[in-house]
Amino acid sequence: SAGFGSSCLPSWLHWVESCSSTNTWAMQADSLHHGEVVFTRQQTAGRGQHGRTWYAPPGVLTASFVLDRLHSSQLPGLSLAAGLAVIYAVEDLLPDLSSKLWLKWSNDVLIEERKLAGILCEAASRGSHTRVVVGIGLNRCADFTQAGLDPDLVNSAVSLYQVSESVPEELALLERLRHYLLQVSDICQRDGIAALISQLRDRDFLYGRPVTIELAGEQLSGQAVGIDTSGRLLLQLQAEVKALVSGRVVWWKD
Ligand code: BTN
Repeated sequence: SAGFGSSCLPSWLHWVESCSSTNTWAMQADSLHHGEVVFTRQQTAGRGQHGRTWYAPPGVLTASFVLDRLHSSQLPGLSLAAGLAVIYAVEDLLPDLSSKLWLKWSNDVLIEERKLAGILCEAASRGSHTRVVVGIGLNRCADFTQAGLDPDLVNSAVSLYQVSESVPEELALLERLRHYLLQVSDICQRDGIAALISQLRDRDFLYGRPVTIELAGEQLSGQAVGIDTSGRLLLQLQAEVKALVSGRVVWWKD
């Protein structure tokens, strides 16, 4: 682990040997401040979107970023903003990938059509303010083509290692992710997610595609026709356009 000796850890980084979930760790540690980061190489019970458990094979970067200056109303937009931050961080370190990076509403970062990173934003009220924890699982050097993995995962996931000649160091990724998360959260706090709308639209993977979204146990099928200035997915149905705050994309195609 070159460049990651304990002597040169930045003060914002909490490196834990092992934990159930960096998000849980960060939510429970009262002393954490804005901009602090919890990182582990061994997450034993990672959590994903929609209450699912989230399994990460070795080589996936798992970390949680604490943002303490947001209002809870900014939370839905923040997960999209966090997706942009992931794209900017990867793009800084691996510029060749830039044109292949997409944001799949509302929480996934893709390389072409496969998932590079997932995001889980959680919030808890702390007296006068809200603590937000942005958990990111980024497929750094896992190899999803390896035998023995669930074929669904092989087809739907991709890592930096699989698509790039070099893979950035963990610390470099954490530093860039933190940098851009702080930047987009400042923007959200000041002006709301609307201030990032053109960047979001540039990266909108679902735009123009037929999709099926699961929402409160119901499925809605239509065409994705963009993201509105509140960060909602616009879904064209037979007779109307519905704006969805949340939901799970269960199907999409060209
Ligand atoms: C998803 O794609 O469903 C979201 C996955 C989020 C995983 C990350 S790994 C670091 C942080 N800790 C967790 O338990 N989950 C997030």
